Amino acid sequence: GNKNINAKLVLLGDVGAGKSSLVLRFVKDQFVEFQESTIGAAFFSQTLAVNDATVKFEIWDTAGQERYHSLAPMYYRGAAAAIIVFDITNQASFERAKKWVQELQAQGNPNMVMALAGNKADLLDARKVSAEEAEQYAQENSLFFMETSAKTATNVKDIFYEIAKRLPRV
Ligand code: GTP
Ligand code: MG
Repeated sequence: GNKNINAKLVLLGDVGAGKSSLVLRFVKDQFVEFQESTIGAAFFSQTLAVNDATVKFEIWDTAGQERYHSLAPMYYRGAAAAIIVFDITNQASFERAKKWVQELQAQGNPNMVMALAGNKADLLDARKVSAEEAEQYAQENSLFFMETSAKTATNVKDIFYEIAKRLPRV
């Protein structure tokens, strides 16, 4: 039969990686060139139909600025899923993503579905992190990896869909 699943999802990642832009694309199918840096965190919800279920994502879009780091556990605690976002044109943002993965592995829900998003995939000429490197890291750490673009919408719905498919069916 049809199931309704509520899933708390948190986005984590460096300042400017594109967390808010991915959410804005997923929830409103919009993109803005000058997205403001998030203060604290922002909440959104969006439903997605997957196989025999309707998943209602309760999305916490956190702030990447370091001064908000201490707030992060409030948002990832109890989360069913996380998207750790980096910018493929910024090596430091990939290193920051790995730190988030370590923190979630140490402090997060052990059954959390974790996705690694290599965002800004439209900026191929400026690429600093190869897809191979990110894919290998993801495999070694039991995450799944996708390159996304909030700007062109590439793989945005898909990453949420892949998460929804991996959620435990209650
Ligand atoms: P904080 O809230 O400060 O942690 O940043 P954030 O991770 O939410 O990043 P945000 O979504 O604000 O995006 C930062 C900048 O990158 C904005 O100017 C966006 O327009 C731009 N941006 C986001 N995603 C993409 C993308 O896929 N491609 C391109 N070209 N630019 C993007
Ligand atoms: Mg933001």
